[in-house]
Amino acid sequence: MFTGTPGKIIIGGITGGIGSALAELAVASGWEVAGYSRSGPSGTKVGGVVHVTTADAKVSSEVEQAINECAEALQGVDAYVHAVGSVFLKPGHQTKDEEWREVMAVNADSAFFAARAMVPLLRAKGGSLVYFSTVAKQIGLANHEAVAAAKGAVEGLVLSMAATYASLNIRCNAIAPGLVETRATRSLLASDMARKVSEKMHPLGRVGTAAEVANVALWLSSDQAAWSQDKHSPWTAVCRQFSPAPRFDCKVGSPVIRSKTCTPCIYNPATSAGEG
Ligand SMILES: NC(=O)c1ccc[n+]([C@@H]2O[C@H](COP(=O)([O-])OP(=O)(O)OC[C@H]3O[C@@H](n4cnc5c(N)ncnc54)[C@H](OP(=O)(O)O)[C@@H]3O)[C@@H](O)[C@H]2O)c1
Repeated sequence: MFTGTPGKIIIGGITGGIGSALAELAVASGWEVAGYSRSGPSGTKVGGVVHVTTADAKVSSEVEQAINECAEALQGVDAYVHAVGSVFLKPGHQTKDEEWREVMAVNADSAFFAARAMVPLLRAKGGSLVYFSTVAKQIGLANHEAVAAAKGAVEGLVLSMAATYASLNIRCNAIAPGLVETRATRSLLASDMARKVSEKMHPLGRVGTAAEVANVALWLSSDQAAWSQDKHSPWTAVCRQFSPAPRFDCKVGSPVIRSKTCTPCIYNPATSAGEG
């Protein structure tokens, strides 16, 4: 259970797997919560939330309006978590123009629009921005070209924001999870075989839960993480704890057989050095 000082939090993507788990945890921990998503109030499952509104996060004016509306309903804001996004898996050569643009828009454009809307609201007394990247951007996973590229943009945004706004005490962090069981990943975990392959890719032998990721997001949003700023804090590694390093058949520089596909091995279990 979260033990920091509860504040006021806006959640983008409040109706999603991670967003709704975060809303539930935040409400239970005494935070005042508001948020937005594509479906808005009709998609909201969590009770006790102050305000939920509808916005298409690919449209900057709608994001700005939704965030301002939420801040007004909360009468201020201390933290923003951007749980808007998608999980899109397809080999690059089969990804169509419109799929690429959609993945970039829902993950990268939306992240920037939200960041830009949040700065004026936080600049007087500081606060926290938390984003979601993916471990696929960190280590390179097959069939993740579009989403890894989009999350690369998110990480670049987060690092620059962290540098630009540190003097205003605005902290900016990204969480880069492995596979988390939510609506977005349902099809990837649909069969026993697919689930087993995914589980084996994670050092802890299982996929994550939305509640586990929500814990990290709420901690990063809180005063307990007051000295956590992406790349500028000694414990940034905390945010990468879900990395799925192969834990089987791994020889440096050799391919790792996963299901029927071959993925280049970039993890060296002998040294834990990260890149072999
Ligand atoms: N699940 C994983 O394994 C995993 C791994 C790495 C990173 N992530 C990242 O974690 C974040 C949360 O993912 P999740 O698993 O919780 O996904 P999810 O259950 O599919 O939730 C996605 C959320 O984003 C909202 N959304 C999508 N498109 C939108 C749009 N155009 N305008 C406004 N809202 C929109 C959805 O709203 P509606 O409910 O109204 O559609 C929903 O609230 C995403 O950034 C995702 O890329 C997830």
